[in-house]
Amino acid sequence: MKVTICVGSTCHLLGSKSVVETFKRLVEEHHLEDRVSLSGTFCMGKCGEGVCVSIDDVTHIIQKDDAERFFNDEILARLG
Ligand code: FES
Repeated sequence: MKVTICVGSTCHLLGSKSVVETFKRLVEEHHLEDRVSLSGTFCMGKCGEGVCVSIDDVTHIIQKDDAERFFNDEILARLG
C-alpha cells in the first residue's frame, strides 16, 4: 500500500510533520515496513482543511490529532 503525505507549506502548517511521525511510529509498531510505503510529496492542490494524505492514489484530508485513528481505520483495517 502506498501512503503519501503532503508536506507542502499549508499542510506543513496544519501538522503534516506530526502525521508523518505518527504513521512512521505505527508502521514500526505493527511491523508493516514491507507492506506500507510511506512517502512525502509537495502540494497536492487541496490545501486548507487539513493534511492531505493519499492512499493508493485516493486523497483524504485529515487532522493531525486524528492521525492515529485514521491509520487504524483506513490503513491497518484495509491490510486485513
Ligand atoms: S500544501 Fe498540502 S495540498 Fe497544498
